[in-house]
Amino acid sequence: MEWTRGQRYRRLSEMTLQEQRNLQHTVEHSPWRQTFHVQPPMGLLNDPNGFCFYNGKFHLFYQWFPFGAVHGMKHWYHTTSDDLVHWENQGLAIEPREWFESHGAFSGSGIVHEESLHLLYTGNTRNKHWERHAYQCLAVMNSHHQIQKHADPIIEGPPKGYTHHFRDPKVWQDEDSYHLVIGAQRENRTGCVLLYHSPDLYHWELIGEVKTRYNDFGFMWECPDYFELGGKGLLLFSPQGLEPEGYHYQNIYQSGYFIGNPLNLTDGSFEHEDFEELDAGFEFYAQQTTLTPDGRRILIGWMGLPEIHYPTDRYQWAHCLTIPRELAIKNGKLYQQPVHEMEKLRKTKKSVADTIESTTKAYEEIKGVCYELKIEMNIQTASTCGVKLRSGDEEETVLYYDHKNKEIVLDREKSGERFAEEYGTKRIKPLNCTCLTLHIFVDVSSIEIFVNHGLYVFTTRIFPSKESQGIEFFAENGGVDLEAVQWDYE
Ligand code: FRU
Repeated sequence: MEWTRGQRYRRLSEMTLQEQRNLQHTVEHSPWRQTFHVQPPMGLLNDPNGFCFYNGKFHLFYQWFPFGAVHGMKHWYHTTSDDLVHWENQGLAIEPREWFESHGAFSGSGIVHEESLHLLYTGNTRNKHWERHAYQCLAVMNSHHQIQKHADPIIEGPPKGYTHHFRDPKVWQDEDSYHLVIGAQRENRTGCVLLYHSPDLYHWELIGEVKTRYNDFGFMWECPDYFELGGKGLLLFSPQGLEPEGYHYQNIYQSGYFIGNPLNLTDGSFEHEDFEELDAGFEFYAQQTTLTPDGRRILIGWMGLPEIHYPTDRYQWAHCLTIPRELAIKNGKLYQQPVHEMEKLRKTKKSVADTIESTTKAYEEIKGVCYELKIEMNIQTASTCGVKLRSGDEEETVLYYDHKNKEIVLDREKSGERFAEEYGTKRIKPLNCTCLTLHIFVDVSSIEIFVNHGLYVFTTRIFPSKESQGIEFFAENGGVDLEAVQWDYE
C-alpha cells in the first residue's frame, strides 16, 4: 500500500478507536515481537530521544509514527525504567499540535532543570511548496509527566550559510550554563555540527561550527551528541551520504564518533582522531547517551535504519531500540559493554566446557529464542571458529573469526526472512586475536554481539521462524578450547 501525504501526516488524536483496535490486532499477530527490547505498541519507532535520569527513574522517549510502519508525522513516545532493563510504557509524550511543529516533533534531548525535565527538540514544518523549515523547541515535563510546551521556538532557524536540515539538539550543562550541539547542513550540501550556548535553556546564541577535520563527509550529520569521558572529548553523530569503503560504511547511513581533546567551548575547535563507526552490524543509527546517577555514560541506539523495508512492516509496526551500553575509554579507544543490570534478566544457567576440533557441535539444553550467551574460544590450531545462532532446518545466523585472514564476520544470509539484501548479507571487521570472547543477547528478532570486551558490537535484526532455536559451535581445520555459559530469559 502506498501511503498518501494525508495519511502520513495525521496526529494520534485523529486515530479512531476502531483504527486503534485494528492496528493492535495486526501487531499482536506479528511473529517477531520482541521481549526485552523497547518497541512501539504499533507503528514505527526510530531515534531514542530525551534519555535522562529524572525524579528517581530513567526516562527514555522515542520517535514514533503511530499509524503504521512508515515515516510520517513524528510524535514522542515515553517509557520509564528503574534499572535500564525493565521499561514501562507511559504513552504519548509530545503530540505535534503547534504551528512550529506542524509536520512532526523530531528528535531531541532532555536535561533536568529546576526539578523539571526540559525537553529540547526539533519542530519540523513544511510550507505549501513542501519546503522544510526547522525550529528548535522546548517542552517542560513535571514529575506527573505533564508536559507544557514553550509558546515559541527557542531557536528560530539555522544561521546564515546553512539549510533547514537543522535538527536534533543535544543539550548538556557545563558549570552554570548550557550548551547544545545540533545536526546541520551547509549551503554547499555538506554535513556538520553547530554549537550553541545558553545561560538558562531559553535564550541561545550560536558559538559556531564544531571545527573538525572532516569538511566534506556526507551531506547531513544527524543526531549529534557530545560528552567527555576518561579525559577525552567525544562527538557522536550519524552522517548520511558516505560510500562503502573497505570494511567501512556498509549500511545505508552510518553512525560513529570522533574522539579527541575536549571540545573548546569558546570557539568550537576540536582536535580529534579519524572517524570510527559505533557498530559493526546491520542495524544501528541515531544513538543518544546519558549519564547515570553513579556516573556511567550509557548509550542507546535505534536498531533500524531509514529507507529500508522490514518484514514486520506488514504487521504495522517496525523497529526497536538497542539494549543500553556502558561506554569506557581504554588505551585511548572507545569500548562498549552491555550495562551490568542486564544480569537481572537471567533465569536458568547452563554451561559447557569442551575442546572442538574440525567439527560443529551442539549441546543438549543449550538453545533458545531469548537469552544471554557468553562464549570464550581459545584458538589452538583452528583456521576459523564461531557460533551459529537461531539455527534450524534452513536457517542460521553465523558469527565467526577467520584466524587466517584476521577478520571477524557476521553472516545473516540464512537468518530467516530476507530483507535489505542490496546492502549485502555480511559485515566484516579486522581482528587479530588468539582468544575470542563473545557476549551475546538474543531476542525474538534481534542479536547483539559484544566482541572481545566491547571492542566491536555487531547489532542485527533477524526474522527467523520460531522453530529455529539451535546454538552450534564450530572449529575448522583444527581445534579450539570452548567455554560457554547461557542464561535463558524464559
Ligand atoms: C534520524 C532522524 C532525525 C530526525 C528524526 C525524525 O533518524 O532523521 O534527524 O530528527 O529522525 O524522525
